[in-house]
Amino acid sequence: MAVVIAALGYFATGGAATNQLLSGDTLKTGENISDINYYLKMQSDCNLVLYQINPEKTVWYTQTNGNGAECVLTLGTDGNLFIRNETQSIVWETKSNGTLGNYVLLLQQDRNLVIYGVPIWNSGTTITV
Ligand SMILES: *[C@@H]1O[C@H](CO)[C@@H](O)[C@H](O)[C@H]1NC(C)=O
Ligand SMILES: *[C@@H]1O[C@H](CO)[C@@H](O)[C@H](O)[C@H]1NC(C)=O
Ligand SMILES: *[C@@H]1O[C@H](CO)[C@@H](O)[C@H](O)[C@H]1NC(C)=O
Repeated sequence: MAVVIAALGYFATGGAATNQLLSGDTLKTGENISDINYYLKMQSDCNLVLYQINPEKTVWYTQTNGNGAECVLTLGTDGNLFIRNETQSIVWETKSNGTLGNYVLLLQQDRNLVIYGVPIWNSGTTITV
């Protein structure tokens, strides 16, 4: 998976990738993932917004502003991407849940936000952790 994604050039260059969320990862209020010219931010007004930096522009948003505070974006182990507010209510979701596994949300260099998840190869060396 990582090899395929790297080959497609979707990882941010240099250091740890900052343009992704893996299953179980969260974006808390005020946090963002970013690529060179774009960032996806979980705002304090509960809106999740994709911004272009240059020229400055709002590209996409979940329209969940006013739905609570301390909102948290999570990529679930079932592939669902969702926002919860401080009362743990789900205020927005992609409804992309499927089988349990390792998924990744990528903020791509082509400005698209994409959830990937189908394994195309594995080493067969699983142990129970
Ligand atoms: C995005 O997150 C990075 C790393 O935490 C931070 O340095 C940067 O200021 C944040 N950008 C915005 C616009 O919130
Ligand atoms: C949290 O979300 C639920 C469901 O959308 C909503 O009913 C509730 O008012 C929200 N909480 C706040 C503090 O806005
Ligand atoms: C996704 O979640 C819904 C609601 O919980 C459930 O009805 C559905 O079966 C799930 N889909 C899959 C593929 O697990």
